[in-house]
Amino acid sequence: MDSVVIAVDGPAAAGKTTTCLALSEIFGLQYIESGRTYRILAFEALRRGISPEDRPSVISLCDELIEQSRARSQFAVGGYAPQDLRSAPVNVTVSTVARIAELRVRVTELVRTWAAACAKCVVEGRDIGTVVFPAASIKFYLTATPEVRAGRRIAQEGGGAYEDVLRDVLRRDRADMSREVSPLVPAEDAVMIDTTELPLAQVVDRMVSVCESRGVTIP
Ligand code: CDP
Repeated sequence: MDSVVIAVDGPAAAGKTTTCLALSEIFGLQYIESGRTYRILAFEALRRGISPEDRPSVISLCDELIEQSRARSQFAVGGYAPQDLRSAPVNVTVSTVARIAELRVRVTELVRTWAAACAKCVVEGRDIGTVVFPAASIKFYLTATPEVRAGRRIAQEGGGAYEDVLRDVLRRDRADMSREVSPLVPAEDAVMIDTTELPLAQVVDRMVSVCESRGVTIP
């Protein structure tokens, strides 16, 4: 296959990052994490005291960061520790920022540019198979019960009270699934995988089989 785009969507902590990184390793694909861009925008808005409700200011912040990172393969390179981007305030703000249509257009454009720069990639997000790459050759939608996802998030990030993490997962599910622009829904042609009772290694095996059956080869 000359060019490959694998879209992986689903709610928070369904196993997207772990499985995308595994696919990236196995098939030699570039990994693109679209959520990081929304998180950077939320983090910067908070740092600069911009209200996430103030759409014009959030959009011009986005334009400024795009301008700074022109011709780079990553948005706003450097300076963002994982704990900064995954803090509780960012988790809350990101849902508001991600509702802004003009912002989503810009992030979609960025992700498409990054994907075009590498022939083969796996792209993780919420709207990759539906909006960003509706013609992707392979689409996955991962899901799991909120309780299992909250447990996984705590295990991964090593912190937070279970009730708080579960509340955040449920709140973000609601926000992402109910927003007007690019809501989180499975693409019609996505391969659905419920990871509630499957160890992520088995989820990866299943995804690898699908990729191989669709002609993606191991280099
Ligand atoms: O890692 P986790 O699944 O918790 O979240 P993420 O992928 O880092 O995304 C954080 C937030 O960004 C999501 O809750 C969405 O509100 C937003 N997002 C989005 O709207 N569209 C995307 N393609 C990716 C993320």
